[in-house]
Amino acid sequence: MTAVDDQAIVSTLRFPPGFRWGTATAAYQIEGATREDGRTPSIWDTFSGTPGRVLNGDTGDIAADHRNRMPEDVALLRELGVTDYRFSVSWPRVQPTGRGPAVQRGLDFYRQLTDRLLEAGIRPVLTLYHWDLPQELEDAGGWPERDTAARFADYATLVAEALGDRVPMWTTLNEPWCSAFLGYGSGEHAPGRTDPAAALRAAHHLNLGHGLAVGALRDLLPDSADLSLVLNLAAVRGRSDSAADRDAVRRIEALANRIFLDPVFHAHYPRDLMEDTAALTDWSFVRDGDLAQISRPIDVLGINYYSPTVVAAAAASPVAVPGRPVPQAPSAWPGTEGLVRFLPGEGPRTAMGWPVDAEGLVELLRRLHRELPRLPLMITENGAAYHDYADPSGAVHDPERIAYLESHLAAVHEAVRSGVDVRGYFLWSLLDNFEWAYGYSKRFGIVHVDFASQRRTLKDSARWYAALIADNRAAP
Ligand code: NOJ
Repeated sequence: MTAVDDQAIVSTLRFPPGFRWGTATAAYQIEGATREDGRTPSIWDTFSGTPGRVLNGDTGDIAADHRNRMPEDVALLRELGVTDYRFSVSWPRVQPTGRGPAVQRGLDFYRQLTDRLLEAGIRPVLTLYHWDLPQELEDAGGWPERDTAARFADYATLVAEALGDRVPMWTTLNEPWCSAFLGYGSGEHAPGRTDPAAALRAAHHLNLGHGLAVGALRDLLPDSADLSLVLNLAAVRGRSDSAADRDAVRRIEALANRIFLDPVFHAHYPRDLMEDTAALTDWSFVRDGDLAQISRPIDVLGINYYSPTVVAAAAASPVAVPGRPVPQAPSAWPGTEGLVRFLPGEGPRTAMGWPVDAEGLVELLRRLHRELPRLPLMITENGAAYHDYADPSGAVHDPERIAYLESHLAAVHEAVRSGVDVRGYFLWSLLDNFEWAYGYSKRFGIVHVDFASQRRTLKDSARWYAALIADNRAAP
């Protein structure tokens, strides 16, 4: 990275021709207009409307008002010069109860969005599920219930029938780990349940929903459409190489990574995971034929990476005083309580408290390439939250974000140079938005949003990213 003058910092990274450059968003985090188009509540409307669940009582009711400002936002994408834009469809906007026919008005919004993107020469990359399950399906049991997987495949069919002619790349699920383990395990995310066995059932039904949707999409979409799954794989490091710490790494890798990668790419669940969780469930929710569905081939694996995970064996199990149970916080890691502890990691941190560590991304990419050598990869999310504000002149200076992005893009570049097949990079996020349980307190955008006026301002990082894209697109 070289400074060309006081203001501009220019990246000299050059990627192979054809590399895709994008930004990413998700429906509930930006759209607002939660009662328009016949939309009904999703689990995130219910959760954010419940006092104490989201910081400051924030909700997605208005968010970045993208449902009403979409043309302005596509103009921003054009200004950035991106080749691709990753967005998600709100399930309750197109199929309010999670059953039955699609609502035309809901689909029309995504038709207009994709039309505008295509007119601007930007490739739409569509995610079907970025966490906004229709509340009615949660009332019927949610992801721990098998039927939700079938409902998801029906919804995928409706969206593919409506938009299949204009969307070349599809993602079934975004970060199913969060849906299963934060949604039903720790309860930090909607629907806020704290039942470890339900979280494991949810993970399987998310996998099954993915597989059934891939089947439906393959039947409906042109051969040229790329199908993908987006995972937040953990780059897990042990505190030491001791047998106990290595066992902690194994357990977390099973729950974070292999619970998705093994069924999707190898048609089985990890045996050690099934043994480790045997006290919680007998896994009889996995029925004959499920793994064949789940392992239908996909074209690309999307990876969302923010920071590595550092673990160690837990020091000692808490000693129970007879008659007094040891209180345990609900965990996102079923079966690891008292066995694994998470360490804070080292170095500078983002506003989320997450360590800045691009090496973890290189390690993760190399490892995936070793294990799945023929599978194309995409970085479908990477970015950072910082405490951004507009200065009196209206400018938003975010040098820490630029440094974060540059170091992580350098990591992707290094992986590509060493032979890893990474096809593109999507920066999270285009806009400041509703950061789930943190509400609007965390800003991930390269475009600043003043939520009172909905005014958008390009941060320095947006100009930096635009220059990097322009240089790469212009390169011979
Ligand atoms: C991953 C999620 O997909 C996205 O919705 C979220 O805002 C970012 N991580 C940052 O936490």
